[in-house]
Amino acid sequence: MANDLKQLALDGGAPIFPEGPPAWPRADDDVRAALLAAYEDGSWGKYDAQHVAELCAELTKLHHVEHALACCSGTFAVELALRGVKVRPGDEVILAGYDFPGNFRAVEAIGARAVLVDIEPHTWCLAVEQVEAAISPETKAVLVSHLHGGVADMERLVALCRARGIAVVEDACQSPGSEVQGRVAGTWGDVGVLSFGGSKLLTAGRGGAIVTNDAQIAQRAKIACERGNNAFPLSELQAAVLCPQLRRLPVDNALRLANATRLRMLTAALPGLIPVTSPPERGSSGYYKFAWSYAPATLDGAPRESFVAAMQAEGVAIGAGFRSFVGRSATRCRRVGNLPHSREAAEATVLLHHPVLLSSTETVDRVVLALRKVLTALQ
Ligand SMILES: Cc1ncc(COP(=O)(O)O)c(C=O)c1O
Repeated sequence: MANDLKQLALDGGAPIFPEGPPAWPRADDDVRAALLAAYEDGSWGKYDAQHVAELCAELTKLHHVEHALACCSGTFAVELALRGVKVRPGDEVILAGYDFPGNFRAVEAIGARAVLVDIEPHTWCLAVEQVEAAISPETKAVLVSHLHGGVADMERLVALCRARGIAVVEDACQSPGSEVQGRVAGTWGDVGVLSFGGSKLLTAGRGGAIVTNDAQIAQRAKIACERGNNAFPLSELQAAVLCPQLRRLPVDNALRLANATRLRMLTAALPGLIPVTSPPERGSSGYYKFAWSYAPATLDGAPRESFVAAMQAEGVAIGAGFRSFVGRSATRCRRVGNLPHSREAAEATVLLHHPVLLSSTETVDRVVLALRKVLTALQ
């Protein structure tokens, strides 16, 4: 095994992607036209023009809901969603032990308490069967994310929570426009959350939104967002560049799904990598990232950092996953069980960034080649 794995590409010949990973955001004539139009009509510098309203109208159409509210980030949209379902200080919010770090903080920002349950080992999403044991008289909401190409079991979660009067906040920041159990991601819960951050499938550099059918949730979130003077807005210019991306989302999601399916198939037999897999009846995820669990036992114990560094040397945008909340102190949260799958996800997850999934099958095959090359060298 090579000692300095950053040298692997050199030792093993030229990198598979000498040009490096594809840029994000990508070149986009529709976005360029939107930017120029916003310059020409002055909407780029206005408090209020037509773009935010147009974006929200498009979001309601895409999600088949009555209300959409745009704001400054996905992280803040999670907080707005929690406020929308009336989470108050002292309430409990159940979420997965492995999730986006900001989601834990959004619960804390309200003065509520996070209650951690484990994830499913294959989908990386909250395990619904754990939720029942987590419910207490203080439980106000469950916050659930579709993560890393995995799909949460929303149908079962919503049925469980409805029966107990508990709200569901569905975080679709990683899977906008994807199909979950026959509905658009974000529309199973009482309120759904989207992100328009700089690495996301829909990007404006920053930004987020909530979608809901409930007028009272929408109104409470709007009041919290405006705080007297639209304190946490999405700008007109951000909305202007999102509108054309939103129109193309179904086509882009279909291409990402086809390439992710190919990637899963071609890497199934590789040693050391176990891909995220959801039962087919759950539908498809949006593939903001494609995840594997990295299992070094089959690879001479080579640590995850070595694998990631070697893949990056091949020009592939791969990184480690989230750190998980399992180590958070008991003063900050309540844990249900030992959360073994959340612990494992924190230690073992590797994530392929999505831009490569908008490329050709030939490019996907080159990613497989790079994986094969690196894994062979690590054995
Ligand atoms: C699942 C999930 N929720 C929320 C967010 C927060 O979005 P933002 O970066 O727009 O604040 C992210 C961002 O990566 C995310 O992955």
